[in-house]
Amino acid sequence: MRRERISQLAHAHHPVASPLGDESVRRLLERGLGDEARHVLDLGCGSGEWLVRALVTYPRLRAVGVDVSESALTRARHTAQILGVADRLDLHQADAADFTSTQLFDLVLSVGAAHAFGGLLATLAAAREHLAPGGRVLAGDGFWERDPSPDAVEMLGDFTDLATTVDRVTVDGWIPVYGHVSTRHELDAYEWDWTGTLASWALDHPGDPDSSHALAAAATHREEWLRVYREAFGFVCLVLRRNSEGSV
Ligand SMILES: C[S@@+](CC[C@H](N)C(=O)[O-])C[C@H]1O[C@@H](n2cnc3c(N)ncnc32)[C@H](O)[C@@H]1O
Repeated sequence: MRRERISQLAHAHHPVASPLGDESVRRLLERGLGDEARHVLDLGCGSGEWLVRALVTYPRLRAVGVDVSESALTRARHTAQILGVADRLDLHQADAADFTSTQLFDLVLSVGAAHAFGGLLATLAAAREHLAPGGRVLAGDGFWERDPSPDAVEMLGDFTDLATTVDRVTVDGWIPVYGHVSTRHELDAYEWDWTGTLASWALDHPGDPDSSHALAAAATHREEWLRVYREAFGFVCLVLRRNSEGSV
């Protein structure tokens, strides 16, 4: 069973592929876009939930999304059509690290996709290349709430604690103008939705050749979450600006 199909099925009830509730996504977009934004870019946009929500809320906004996943982009296109915003959304199937554009953007988003760039600071460096003067970056990445086990590091990557994460960002010349730390409820809801929706699909489709694999994948993921990383993993979204000279 392809990873992409697992991910598509698992996200059916939680289309934002990051541990954030709808109200958190709304507020982060509001703080990232402000009143003036006209162009937004999402590097690692997945199924385009952030962009589509922004386009629905801000009728003068135009959006560009980049992702390697063809199936995620197909879902983004479909959602945008249903919600009547497809004419303001450009989607590119590409490696986000290599994406170039002549357009500069008032907001560059990258949530849960830092691995595509080699970490949070590399993500910010890539985002900066696309940023209009005075623009903002909305970046979301993991951090360690508690010391992780070696298995958790192996599974999720090498994060630091929250204060160190923010320190590194500010030393790099970024100024946080808003932030959101996913709550225990948001972190758990994401995992219950992911594992539970995939398991439900398997139970509802016993004749599908992928059914038993999906059920096993849901069980493995739930086990890893509960035993390996639930206590250690946190997730933070930062809305960042640079000062007018581009340095602090
Ligand atoms: C955890 S999901 C987050 C999706 C979206 N930002 C959200 O919050 O709903 C990570 C996304 O990064 C995409 N991705 C991974 N590597 C990538 C790369 N090199 N270039 C572009 N997208 C990439 C995946 O296909 C996936 O859609």
